[in-house]
Amino acid sequence: MKTVQLISLTLLSVLAASAQVILPGKCPRPDVQEDFDAARYLGTWYGIQKLPDVFQKGECSTATYSLRSPGVVGVLNRELLANGTINAITGSAKAKDPSEPAKLEVSFFESTPPAPYRVLSTDYDGYALVYSCTDYGLFHVDFAWIMSRQPSMLGQTIDYLHSILASAGVSVDKLLITNQDTTFCRAMVQ
Ligand SMILES: *[C@@H]1O[C@H](CO)[C@@H](O)[C@H](O)[C@H]1NC(C)=O
Repeated sequence: MKTVQLISLTLLSVLAASAQVILPGKCPRPDVQEDFDAARYLGTWYGIQKLPDVFQKGECSTATYSLRSPGVVGVLNRELLANGTINAITGSAKAKDPSEPAKLEVSFFESTPPAPYRVLSTDYDGYALVYSCTDYGLFHVDFAWIMSRQPSMLGQTIDYLHSILASAGVSVDKLLITNQDTTFCRAMVQ
């Protein structure tokens, strides 16, 4: 028990230093997209809003998904850093249980455990809402991303996705807006 507490505290200070969202209790388990179709989800998405995370600190973020092999989705995340360089990381995502296709696990580095990646809601050609949460003993840390096929999103769609997050107990007030201004983001065009 002492060790668990110590690990929790250590993790807590590491996570607190990186300004992630840390909350007491266990991860919420919101409903996911019914009959999720990964094939229709492939292609590029623009980051519109997200909870703060350590991995991506830039603006103009995009996520591009491709079919790597049957059941395995390749992930390419790109963003523009403050110093003008483009940061790109690649990974792969896979459903742990094929009968629950919206509950994916994504891994970026072989040394770190895969992180949950749950598609809570998507219409495939407009919006996507992704949620990830990990339990750390007495606390949990969560991430959420609101993504769009366009560099912008209608206010009513954003409101709809916020309502899904709010009913799952996710801190909607902590969401950060990603700059997707086309002039500001012109360096991202491949
Ligand atoms: C830009 O910032 C990133 C992250 O801080 C760093 O890794 C990279 O070397 C920097 N590039 C330049 C050209 O300064």
